[in-house]
Amino acid sequence: MRAAVFDRHGPPADVLTIADLPDPTPGPGQVVVALEAAAVHPADLATIAGHYGVRPRLPGAVPGIEGVGRVVAVGAGAALTVGQRVLLPLGVGTWRDRVVATARTLVTVPDDLPAEQLALAVVNPATARLLLGQVDRLLPGEWILQNAANGAVGRTVARLARARGLHTLNVVRRATAGLCVRNAGGDVVLVDGPELAHEVARYTDGAPVRLALDAVAGPATDRLARCVVPGGTVVVYGALSGQPSTLGADQTIFRDVRLHGFWLTTWLQQADDATRAALFTDLVADLRDHPQPVDARFDLGAVAAAVAAAARGGRDGKVVLRGEAWNG
Ligand SMILES: NC(=O)c1ccc[n+]([C@@H]2O[C@H](COP(=O)([O-])OP(=O)(O)OC[C@H]3O[C@@H](n4cnc5c(N)ncnc54)[C@H](OP(=O)(O)O)[C@@H]3O)[C@@H](O)[C@H]2O)c1
Repeated sequence: MRAAVFDRHGPPADVLTIADLPDPTPGPGQVVVALEAAAVHPADLATIAGHYGVRPRLPGAVPGIEGVGRVVAVGAGAALTVGQRVLLPLGVGTWRDRVVATARTLVTVPDDLPAEQLALAVVNPATARLLLGQVDRLLPGEWILQNAANGAVGRTVARLARARGLHTLNVVRRATAGLCVRNAGGDVVLVDGPELAHEVARYTDGAPVRLALDAVAGPATDRLARCVVPGGTVVVYGALSGQPSTLGADQTIFRDVRLHGFWLTTWLQQADDATRAALFTDLVADLRDHPQPVDARFDLGAVAAAVAAAARGGRDGKVVLRGEAWNG
């Protein structure tokens, strides 16, 4: 079977190769799942580059956080059948044609949803939901602020916020990204820059902004901090700039701005089984009415081209890899 592998950290398009690995066989309680589709997320690129919170064992690491596939072999006592469709375990290394998994940990999913949507079902939509819970009781009519607003998390935040009666200030790095954010449900779109706090105050008419969501880090963190109310919260959940967050001491000392992080991995580890299962059920159901945009699709064998496309700015949606069980 084919698998994307890397033996050392570096630029993903340079260090990834396609290896021919032995087909796995299931042990007791296990199944083998053949890949239909897998997402290419910024976290995948960061993992390969060696900048992520999880360090894979090298050499021979297989990247890939999420994906969907079909059961093709069932071990003794495993309560799944050949042909069933399942989400792959998060972080299993989904960029391979076949993977072994413990049957009872797998989430079964409907046959009638597109594979590329199921490959995007969990990481970003879950993060968007949970980010909105990072301060107590946001009330209808309140404003929240976010950057990278045209990304997958950002668009989902804009949609979910609107559904709750919240207003969003959506920061992008290029004006051409504004339309898709508005179409997703965003209220105001602003291009990032030194005047951000003035722009925010103009649109909110001085109303307090208690929550800002930061996917960029670097100096962008400080720009968001200057827009929130004294005592307000900036949640850093991504570092797309590749730089450490900067936050002026004037913001922490004189304005008591709170900075904290969010990582879905930690949340999932801390949640109980019932909470996690309920979240996954909601996320899959939500896909029917709210498909996520896909910018480009690549066969697994073209993984180097896929990661190069994912690393390029200006995409309109995600990059998806197709595995051996892809069937249109
Ligand atoms: N903490 C968690 O648990 C968690 C979970 C999910 C995602 N994340 C993080 O959330 C972030 C967004 O992920 P996503 O999947 O939503 O992204 P995405 O759909 O792949 O889109 C990337 C977005 O980031 C923007 N961007 C890229 N580099 C940038 C830079 N240097 N400065 C400003 N904007 C930049 C892009 O703008 P253009 O369109 O202009 O190129 C685009 O809006 C990533 O850092 C990801 O790792 C974190």
